[in-house]
Amino acid sequence: MKTLLEVKNLNIRNKEGQSLVHDSSFSLETGKTYALIGESGSGKTLTSKAILDMLPAHLQMSGDIVLQGEHLKQLSRKRWRSIRGGQIGAIFQHPEQALHPSIPIGRQFVDLMRSHLPVSRYEAEKQAKKMLSQVLLKDTSHVMSSYAHELSGGMNQRVMIAMALLLKPKILIADEPTSALDVKTQAEIIFLLKELILDTDMSMLFITHDLLISGYLADTIGVMREGKIIEQGSKENILSAPEHEYTQELCRHCSQRFLGKGEIPYA
Ligand SMILES: Nc1ncnc2c1ncn2[C@@H]1O[C@H](COP(=O)(O)OP(=O)(O)OP(=O)(O)O)[C@@H](O)[C@H]1O
Ligand SMILES: [Mg+2]
Repeated sequence: MKTLLEVKNLNIRNKEGQSLVHDSSFSLETGKTYALIGESGSGKTLTSKAILDMLPAHLQMSGDIVLQGEHLKQLSRKRWRSIRGGQIGAIFQHPEQALHPSIPIGRQFVDLMRSHLPVSRYEAEKQAKKMLSQVLLKDTSHVMSSYAHELSGGMNQRVMIAMALLLKPKILIADEPTSALDVKTQAEIIFLLKELILDTDMSMLFITHDLLISGYLADTIGVMREGKIIEQGSKENILSAPEHEYTQELCRHCSQRFLGKGEIPYA
């Protein structure tokens, strides 16, 4: 198995010196999904922001992030951004916040593509439509001419996924991409991500509160609590033989939900 990205002894502190992420280490393998699961405030988003170089300036980070042998520690910020730019795509909980409100979707695709690759407007539009159909959006011409506020939450999340995949990244970071959607749309997006991962050799870091979704999507699960990864391992081990008391509780809660209601369509 080939390691694509390693997070090594990541520490993030706030201005007061309080530890928000504490000595976290994990790795992403080619073509595999790592789910980072944990309660609110446990440090999942900060971890993903550290990888994306999007941490606010007032937070201090130490440790290292290694992307295909390149150490963040040894690179200038500009160089890291250029290496990372085409190789890591990201989607978030509120896609409409990441999309420009007053630029049509199609133009955002074209601008993004042409800022990275020497392609004509015509070619960029063609690629954008192809990506939009890949995420199962039907009337791609209509989507291209729409503004984010004219589309549903689910459609906007599909647009974001298409945009994140446009430059063919090796890694997709998905930070609770379905938490703001209704249950049916959640399931559709989860299915879509699973298929995209199976069809390519892309890796995914999937951040969630939900052990059930992790069980469906991930190969490896890391459980985060109060800034620490308290347990990580193969999905099978974590789900069938959790060691940490907190993980055991998550598993119990998860099976009660599953057995009690049976309403989770991707379980
Ligand atoms: N910009 C920031 N400045 C200072 N502290 C922050 C900042 N962002 C997050 N924190 C703090 O860091 C801790 C971890 O936050 P983080 O957003 O990573 O949690 P999370 O696991 O993603 O939670 P959630 O599931 O609610 O999204 C929290 O205590 C939070 O208050
Ligand atoms: Mg978060």
